[in-house]
Parts: sequence; structure tokens; C-alpha cells
Amino acid sequence: MDYVRRLHQSHRIEVNGEAAYATAARLTKEPERRAKWDALKQLETQMKTQLAVALQREGATARERRLDVWLGQAGGGIAAMLPWRMVVWALAKITAHTTRFWERLEREQVGRNPTLFAALTAHERAQQEFAQRELSGEVKTSLEFVSALLSRGPRAATVGHEGGNLT
Ligand SMILES: [Fe+2]
Repeated sequence: MDYVRRLHQSHRIEVNGEAAYATAARLTKEPERRAKWDALKQLETQMKTQLAVALQREGATARERRLDVWLGQAGGGIAAMLPWRMVVWALAKITAHTTRFWERLEREQVGRNPTLFAALTAHERAQQEFAQRELSGEVKTSLEFVSALLSRGPRAATVGHEGGNLT
């Protein structure tokens, strides 16, 4: 798949993820877990914005499809209702799969905006790490990589090469 189509595809995935985490945060009463969903949502928003900027540079427009938002909201609504451990177990499984997807894109798009694709892989690894730490009881430090990426801000993916170092 060509570069611009991959950017559109990636942007749609982030729109979906952002809606899922935002909905889970909104429907979760427990403050600590709510804050965790919110941090994950912020990471998706950051990634989505970087992809929109990359699309703009190609003369394309990032569109947020209602269907992607609805599907995300549905997933987030289900996540908010299920037991926490079950949800983070599922998140660990999903992000292990999606991390491999982003790694494949990184290899496929070699030479095209490598920092952006490295950042995509890094942001998924950060979510996987979050889920794995939650499962192993490291609930106080589970957001470590997510917070690190958020503190770097969106420029990390478009300017520097720091984006892919969270392994
Ligand atoms: Fe994402």
C-alpha cells in the first residue's frame, strides 16, 4: 500500500482508538482507572494529530469517519463495563497484534517519514507495556512509557528520532 493510503489507514485506527479510550474514561467512575483511560486517550489524540499533519504535508486531508468513532465508542463502552483485569488482558493481546502491524508498516515504508512510523510502533508498545504491567500488578508504574511519550509531545515523531526508542 502506498504512503498516503497508509497514513489514512493509520489515522482511522487512531480515530477509533481515541474514541474507545475517551468513552471508557467517560464511563469509568473509579478515579485512578479513569485517569489511565484518559492518558491512553491523550496518546491516541497525539498520534492522530501527527498523522493528520503528515497527511496535510502530502496535500491530503485527514477525515474522521463517523463509523470509526462509533465503533471506537462501542468498544470503549464494553471495556468500561467488563472487569478491569479482563479488559487489560484483552488490551495486552490486541496491542501485541497491533504492535506487529506497526512494525510491518515501518519496514514497508522504509525511507518515508521513518520517525513517524517509529513513533507509531513506540506508541503501541507503550500501550502493550501498560497492559502487561497492569496484569503483573505494577499498577503504579503502568503508564510510564505512555507518560514519557506524552511528555515529549507530537514533535518527537516528526522532528527527532527519539520516537522509536521505547522498547
Ligand atoms: Fe493508537
